[in-house]
Amino acid sequence: APSLTYPAIKVGNVNNLKNNEPVYFNYPDARSQGILVKLGRPAIGGVGRERDIVAFSAACTHMGCGVQYKGGRFLCPCHYSMFDPAKAAAVYQGLASTGLPQIQLGIAQNGDIFARAVNGLIWGRARNI
Ligand code: FES
Repeated sequence: APSLTYPAIKVGNVNNLKNNEPVYFNYPDARSQGILVKLGRPAIGGVGRERDIVAFSAACTHMGCGVQYKGGRFLCPCHYSMFDPAKAAAVYQGLASTGLPQIQLGIAQNGDIFARAVNGLIWGRARNI
């Protein structure tokens, strides 16, 4: 999937995250919701001391509904696609044919977490730039 860089924005701080409590933010702009979550187990693309902090576009790749983080996975309430947050949000059940775009994260010395790029195409954006 293509990786597209956008201006970095702060989406949280490692000291405020609790395992499995998602944080919602908008990136790369107000039209696109993202989800940040600390999984408590290492994940593909994970950052932080435990490599367990990941973020994804919340727009389901099937028809764009907002996915929720529940029971350790991302679940789409529209047609129940499910995505594995530890495996780059690969789809493992349902109608979506591709995983959720992963948002690349960076961490500053003070623990601030920044979104800085998106791997993959966000649903519904005619141009992902
Ligand atoms: Fe998510 Fe259909 S919009 S499964």
